[in-house]
Amino acid sequence: MSQATIESILHEKRLFHPSEDFSNRAHIKNLDEYRQLYDRAKTDPEGFWEELAETELHWFKKWERVLDWQPPFAQWFAGGKINISYNCLDRHLNGDRKDKPALIWEGEPGDSRIFTYAELHREVCQMANAIKELGVKKGDRVGIYMPMIPSAAIAMLACARIGAPHTVVFGGFSAEALKDRLEDAEAKLVITADGGWRKDAIVPLKDQVDKALEAGAPGVENVLVVKRTQQEISMQPGRDHWWHDLQTRVSADCPAEEMDSEDMLFILYTSGTTGKPKGVVHTTGGYNLYTHVTSKWIFDLRDDDVYWCTADVGWITGHSYIVYGPLSNGATTLMYEGAPRASNPGCLWDVVQKYGVTIFYTAPTAIRALMKLGEQHPDARDLSSLRLLGTVGEPINPEAWMWYHRVIGGGKCPIVDTWWQTETGGVMITPLPGATPTKPGSCTLPFPGIVADVVDAEGEPVTDESGGYLVVRQPWPGMMRTVYGDPDRFRRTYWEYLRPQDGNPIYFAGDGARKDEEGYFWVMGRVDDVINVAGHRLGTMEVESALVSHPAVAEAAVVGCPHEVKGEEIVAFVTLKEDLDASEELENELKQHVVNEIGALARPKEIRFTEELPKTRSGKIMRRLLRSLASGEEISGDTSTLQDRGVLEKLRGG
Ligand code: WT7
Repeated sequence: MSQATIESILHEKRLFHPSEDFSNRAHIKNLDEYRQLYDRAKTDPEGFWEELAETELHWFKKWERVLDWQPPFAQWFAGGKINISYNCLDRHLNGDRKDKPALIWEGEPGDSRIFTYAELHREVCQMANAIKELGVKKGDRVGIYMPMIPSAAIAMLACARIGAPHTVVFGGFSAEALKDRLEDAEAKLVITADGGWRKDAIVPLKDQVDKALEAGAPGVENVLVVKRTQQEISMQPGRDHWWHDLQTRVSADCPAEEMDSEDMLFILYTSGTTGKPKGVVHTTGGYNLYTHVTSKWIFDLRDDDVYWCTADVGWITGHSYIVYGPLSNGATTLMYEGAPRASNPGCLWDVVQKYGVTIFYTAPTAIRALMKLGEQHPDARDLSSLRLLGTVGEPINPEAWMWYHRVIGGGKCPIVDTWWQTETGGVMITPLPGATPTKPGSCTLPFPGIVADVVDAEGEPVTDESGGYLVVRQPWPGMMRTVYGDPDRFRRTYWEYLRPQDGNPIYFAGDGARKDEEGYFWVMGRVDDVINVAGHRLGTMEVESALVSHPAVAEAAVVGCPHEVKGEEIVAFVTLKEDLDASEELENELKQHVVNEIGALARPKEIRFTEELPKTRSGKIMRRLLRSLASGEEISGDTSTLQDRGVLEKLRGG
């Protein structure tokens, strides 16, 4: 979003209020209620979370301590015994929810399935027993590499049920990226499918698993394969097992393991500022509580809602707000395998109409793509069931916000713009839809219990609207606990980046933001070397290491360049090894190399060959200059630290 747009919205001070009807029926009905909750949580965070843990979740045994805070390491409800799969399933089986749809699934080719809570519970128990039969024990890690089919959620819940931490790897990652993650997590089992449907084509997931296991991840002993796309795949005897074979043999009785609140629930890899993705660790009780309460208040979940989050289960949004948060609340959650495509640009609206979706949660990049496809698609469907809309993943430009509000929400649905991260486990800054007046482009106010602020490099609050670093001052139950196998990296990256005068560590999210005079937060985007391509988070270093691993490349620098729909796209500056000449073939080969190393999501849009990269005298690549060059802007700001000004001229000349 440009400075000018923010300015105009700030000046306009245009507020969108929820309707009286919406507010009256909402869990949190007005700003006073929000403020009371916020103040209570700020003055007595432990009392606030303890009360919610007691009233909202089932515990086998009560905790000994609400919070043990040894900065930056937190333990929430330690000593408490809990199982998130139990909270998502078993506890809903006693009353009316037993036969309520828990999971509605629509496949891309138009097949569909609905699981009641009782049915989902049964399937999860069966898969849990199958996993046990394959030698997985409490504490063992399981890789999940799945399309958007019910078995993905079932696999996660099955792992949680027996206390085996899962690591879901997004199906768009390459075999190489999968191998790296399986190795880092030391996974024993991989759960996958023959393939998945993506834009009318088959994504051959099992083939990728085969390649990954050929290349490494020797710890993987078994592969459990779900049949989805039916094409011929190779099955290695002894290692690979069809789920439908095992399912007929295993019992459907599998009591949930009593886990300690601080036992690891999952690892999810996310990109950072180095070449190696971080294994973000989340634990059980605090994560369960945080995703439960945020789902309930932010999506205002009621028993008659049909809630749909369009994320993939391979990302944190899928974990927290397709699977764990909604199911813990006993809601009906919808999962869709497809995406808008040439053969059906209006498919999302078909799904809304078919199931009477009431809450719809998606990403700004998707909204911008839908805007481009045109209003005729939503206009041709009945979207009147919708009552609440949400966005996540990147700042939303006011134009897209207004379109979403008018065309999809019919002007009547509140929009919750939710700011959060893989690391935070759940939403941190957000409107509460019945309470918070919204401003297009602002994620508004912190969730109760979240002490967020905008600070300068010394950790001092920025009091005017000039902007600074977005930080959180207090621990919260959903926070990541560590980087898997590298606690030091956790400390350095998030808790020591800023060193405030008072010595109290603060969590730095990697984003820049500003606060307006009403305390509303406006997130400006990443201030580190992380880019956001169509809602996918990528480290520039990660793409650079992929490029440099090609034998022709001497050096590479990658930057994000603004894109109308994707938010950002990748432009790579590449220096070739001596004697090698740039060519279109080589450009294509390098792009494909990145796809092989990371996945199609990281394919550079453009590669610019250059004899040299602009560097400071200390040898640091000046990305700021490359960013300006890539987006065709004038080079502004200081270039005096540049080692060789001639480089700029050469780069400009192309
Ligand atoms: C980064 C986290 C959290 C699930 C999706 C992405 C950006 C996220 C917003 C928002 C502005 C946002 C931030 C953040 N981001 N939501 N509502 N407004 N920016 O998870 O891959 O961990 O990425 O996404 O830059 O740091 P992620």
